Amino acid sequence: MQSDEIRSRFLSFFEKKEHKIIESSSLIPEGDISVLFTTAGMQQFKGYYSAPESAMRDFNTKNVTTVQKCVRTGDMEEVGDATHLSFFEMLGNFSFGGYGRKEAISYAYEFITKELGLQISYVTIYKGEGIVPKDEESLSIWASLDSNLDIREDGSDVFWGPTGNSGPCGPTTEIYCKNAEGVDVEVWNVVFNEYFCDGSREQLDKGQATLKKLDVLGIDTGMGLERLVSIVQKTETVYETDLFKNVINIIKESSENYNEKSARIIADHFRTAVFLISDGVIPSNKDQGYVLRRLIRRAVLKMQFIKANNVLTVNLLKSFIDSYSPVYQNLKTTDIKTIFELEKEKFHNTVAHGLKEFEKGVDPFILATTYGFPIEL
Ligand code: SER
Repeated sequence: MQSDEIRSRFLSFFEKKEHKIIESSSLIPEGDISVLFTTAGMQQFKGYYSAPESAMRDFNTKNVTTVQKCVRTGDMEEVGDATHLSFFEMLGNFSFGGYGRKEAISYAYEFITKELGLQISYVTIYKGEGIVPKDEESLSIWASLDSNLDIREDGSDVFWGPTGNSGPCGPTTEIYCKNAEGVDVEVWNVVFNEYFCDGSREQLDKGQATLKKLDVLGIDTGMGLERLVSIVQKTETVYETDLFKNVINIIKESSENYNEKSARIIADHFRTAVFLISDGVIPSNKDQGYVLRRLIRRAVLKMQFIKANNVLTVNLLKSFIDSYSPVYQNLKTTDIKTIFELEKEKFHNTVAHGLKEFEKGVDPFILATTYGFPIEL
């Protein structure tokens, strides 16, 4: 099954279960300056968990479903391994008082086992801590769906959120499936937003924030498309799925000194840059612009290492834009190419200038901090 089909099957599955399909929000969160990027599907719906009646007003329903663009920069050093990406799409279904654990778990079970025909390796439930009790209800729902299912209890890993400075959070149940190598991979995170936390997750973990019970239980589920596709297509890494296969081949064919890890990093960083630029980010020295600058420069550096030819940039951008345009209509081809090329040029100038300073004996640390010279180089 191709990724396009998985994406659309997910949305129509939940549409049939009376969810309204909502478009992905921008990668730059609106109205929440405490986070740089949209990192989860629930982010655009954060306010509805404390004020569920406004969901009815805005969507005319309590249940919605999305495929959300996400950027996570925390795992940047792991990009290039089997599963980590700086950009990913998150499939999610959400409810603001429309349904509870029973439906959320049954829908997830039905989608994974019947719609996709996958076998669940095991699931987790929250074992309870402090004021939050053990999730007995989820335990018995899973057991009633499949009496042979391996149900494991877990701690803080299966308590999700909040994002940013404060927000909804709660216990989760996670679904694991085996990948092509027989390794268990977390595919779906089904969160039961039962609490409002008045601080960040870090503060909560340090005992510096408190949890208050929300009036209504909210549902927030998230399943990374790329990981799911990799399991469905039985590939060893996300880069062998149909989402990346073509671009990896393009990189291979255009390099004189091919290296798999570098190719993956180039592919990942280009794709993230395409989506960031389309959502209005411009390379700069701060915030989102700085992340974009780092991504482009790191990709350009890797292209030099693998001795890529000059047309690779244009070919890669074109390949991503062509394959994602039917799903995300705001991909701005001209802007993306112009901004990318401009940043590449600035980077080459920085490198040329930096090398001259280096020859004069300037300290590498000064080169990195003052001249923006990439320390890897
Ligand atoms: N918010 C949860 C996550 O990001 C589930 O969507 O994993």
